[in-house]
Amino acid sequence: MPESFFVLSKDHLEIAKDEIIAIAKTYDRFAKSKSFSNLVIIQSNLTWERISQRATFVKISGQILRKMSGLFLGEDNFEVLKNAKTFVCRIVNLSSKQFDIPQLESSMGDMISKLSQAQVNLQNPDIIIYLIFTNQENFFGFSKPEKIPKRPKKVRKHPHELDWRLARVMINLIGLKEGETVCDPFCGTGTTLLEAESMGIKAIGLDFDKKMYEISKENLESNGFKSKLIKGDFSEFTKIQDKFDGIVTDLPYGTASKVSENPQELIKKFVTMLPRRKKIAIMCKKGFEKKLNMKSSKAYDIYRHKSLTRAILIK
Ligand SMILES: C[S@@+](CC[C@H](N)C(=O)[O-])C[C@H]1O[C@@H](n2cnc3c(N)ncnc32)[C@H](O)[C@@H]1O
Repeated sequence: MPESFFVLSKDHLEIAKDEIIAIAKTYDRFAKSKSFSNLVIIQSNLTWERISQRATFVKISGQILRKMSGLFLGEDNFEVLKNAKTFVCRIVNLSSKQFDIPQLESSMGDMISKLSQAQVNLQNPDIIIYLIFTNQENFFGFSKPEKIPKRPKKVRKHPHELDWRLARVMINLIGLKEGETVCDPFCGTGTTLLEAESMGIKAIGLDFDKKMYEISKENLESNGFKSKLIKGDFSEFTKIQDKFDGIVTDLPYGTASKVSENPQELIKKFVTMLPRRKKIAIMCKKGFEKKLNMKSSKAYDIYRHKSLTRAILIK
């Protein structure tokens, strides 16, 4: 079974690793994973491009060609360069050993150009050859320059808006697929809706505040997105439960945004209304989750600043 590698940014590392695994399992329930430091290896029939296009915190990704015990590679390792005119060699050192990386990259480059037809091109290579060192295992792999996916525009912003990366990661953690629908009952500026649509997932948003409803509408329209928007109380979602597959939301904190009632009361009410059989990801102020009496399968702490840590709960 092919293996892909993903080197992740160290921001929110736990959630970043779980996101990669969740995406792989969404499309291939037999996918297997292992990780070393900020490297995740996925064994699955899914291509690395497919996972990487969806994921939020990937810095480098590609396909593993084989594990390495030393630095010695034979001609048969360069099959991958058969149709490539140019390549570049990159070392990713996640081990505690010290390497002279530029020197190693350059000598690997020389060696590979002697063993294959391809030439080194630092700026615009057809193939990127990776040597990845960890304290446990070393890997030899390759990647191709990827098109950076187009980000949705956000023409209107608001101080309380959710970091798009967290909205995206929440959608991915609950395993929604293209064509399915997510509902955000407290949609604010529409961050969840924009991220969902940018991944081919349909979305429905609710917000009781006319101003927020209009901001969301403008944000969606400026991207040509078709999410359904309802100006109304969050509880309206109970009437349209057959129209969506999962809920992703960032609950009101009662600080920067308007809130219809005491946030703790509102949240309690919200939790009692949650559908049993749907996939759910909720962000709230850390500490609130204890009062929610919601059985979550996983919780993550998201540090914002010294007086605000938030929690992401997955059910
Ligand atoms: C934390 S903000 C959500 C921010 C949003 N995720 C974004 O990225 O812009 C909470 C939102 O809940 C809305 N809200 C508060 N009480 C509500 C209620 N009873 N029903 C629906 N929306 C409500 C507020 O207007 C606010 O836009």
